[in-house]
Amino acid sequence: CRTPLDQSKIENPESKIPAAATPLTILWGSQTGTAESLAKQAAKTATSKGFTPTILDMAAASPADLAAHENVLVITSTYGEGEPPDNAKALYDAVLADGAPALPGSLRYSVCALGDTNYEAFCQCGKAFDEAFAKLGATRIAERVDCDVDYDEPFATWLEQALTTLQKSEVGSKKNEVTSAATSTSDFKLQTSDLDAAYGRARPFPAPVLTVRNLNGAGSAKEVNHVEFSLTGSGLTYEAGDALSVIPHNCPELVAGVLQALGCDGEEAVTTANGELPLRTALTTCFDLGKPTKTLLELLQLPASDTTLDVLDALHAACPAAIENLKSQIQNPDFLRKLAPRLYSISSSPKAHADQVHLTVGAVRYDHGGRPRKGVCSTFLAERALAAGTAHVFVHSNKAFRPPADPTAPMIMVGPGTGIAPFRAFLQEREATAAAGRNWLFFGDQHAASDYLYQDQIAAWQKTGLLHRVDTAFSRDQAEKIYVQDRMREAGAELWQWLEDGAHFYVCGDAKRMAKDVDLALHDIIATHGQKTAEQAAAYVNALKAAKRYGRDVY
Ligand code: 2AM
Repeated sequence: CRTPLDQSKIENPESKIPAAATPLTILWGSQTGTAESLAKQAAKTATSKGFTPTILDMAAASPADLAAHENVLVITSTYGEGEPPDNAKALYDAVLADGAPALPGSLRYSVCALGDTNYEAFCQCGKAFDEAFAKLGATRIAERVDCDVDYDEPFATWLEQALTTLQKSEVGSKKNEVTSAATSTSDFKLQTSDLDAAYGRARPFPAPVLTVRNLNGAGSAKEVNHVEFSLTGSGLTYEAGDALSVIPHNCPELVAGVLQALGCDGEEAVTTANGELPLRTALTTCFDLGKPTKTLLELLQLPASDTTLDVLDALHAACPAAIENLKSQIQNPDFLRKLAPRLYSISSSPKAHADQVHLTVGAVRYDHGGRPRKGVCSTFLAERALAAGTAHVFVHSNKAFRPPADPTAPMIMVGPGTGIAPFRAFLQEREATAAAGRNWLFFGDQHAASDYLYQDQIAAWQKTGLLHRVDTAFSRDQAEKIYVQDRMREAGAELWQWLEDGAHFYVCGDAKRMAKDVDLALHDIIATHGQKTAEQAAAYVNALKAAKRYGRDVY
């Protein structure tokens, strides 16, 4: 698959380019926007070091185009089960294909892979690009970095190293011009300290929690909460389609268990990134107790799969010397991971709720080997956020997922379960802006009686005419499972007509099964009702993607 280099997708962040500057291509693959924003950060830093960076969306690059680039930094995330982000898929397939065109040795590159160690295929996409580039003949100038969710430092270190090496090799190969060979991390620090002034990722806003309301009826197996935060005075802004990062607090029982196992009372002072804190506060607000690090497991000689609860058992059984050792290491950064923010699709439009942001959060609770387990952030929001009064949040922009720019374009939304969230935002936006385009919602869940999230609002929007069509799939109200993709197929002829009328197609929710099955149904509908072969249907879907008419917010 070769996408011609689309000049419109190339942004140059600096208009004033020194003549002697070194060209640099920053190639990004991003599902939720993190890699894209790191690409922008990298461009700023590179500019300050005398490079002329070009930020390149992977969707606009092919291996053949890449051959023309000298210095390439690849920044890409991985999602689902080791899959490339949507915008990286075509390039990924192309560089990994048998017979992929060779890359010249003059192409110097390094890869920053973003991922989450909670997933088995950690950083898989970045690893694959790194290996493929080397195999095709390009020159790796700095080791790849595999970043966990707390990516700031490893990213900054990698960037520093890659730019320094590129600069040196550039000076060596061209014997020239580059003026500022001296490098330090100060450029990066300068930028983060700029950010420090405002609320954002580097400084999350303590948002007052206004509402936490369970959306399910009696007898439901689900527990989905509608959560409202105030953004008043924060200076934070967002758009429909964005996500909100929430930094949870750990469950007090779990913290108490850790303190008890350590034989601590919780008042002991420990040093953290947020300064000196009592151990109980530090364990509650700073450290991830959900999944123990390798260092901790090694210390306690536990297998890699063990969870914090098993670690607590081991601590109880451990000899006092091991506990002393543990206490002394509690401040070791490799020992406990930083408590990472959790990302939720925003379910409100700022045009409908100025100074508020709403979420639709399914509480994760399950049983594992007879022990109850709880999702850290979803149960923090469900059980304690309201009482805590505030929760630390920041906005995560998701530019690839927006309502149609054309207010008259029809919109088809497939959002079963909590996948409804961004579509509540999209519909609020269309209502607030009096957008004329037709709107069609597919919603599904287990039971109509208890799980029809925002049913009253949806019914009201049908009445006012904002929602032209709603198709529901309640999977467990009859003997046979019925899913949203089944409803899509039933309405295939109309769906095809909407697409032909210029509709944008959106899906939000489970990436592993639902979004894949919905994608399959979409292809089948286009083939059947558009009278196309499988290849022609795939080309039609690719054209939808290229026209930004196929939006996916899947996780
Ligand atoms: P189930 O749990 O009864 O199988 C929201 O969670 C809804 O998505 C539920 O009704 C759930 O059905 C359904 N669901 C589960 N797997 C799905 C899939 N592969 N495609 C679409 N919906 C699915």
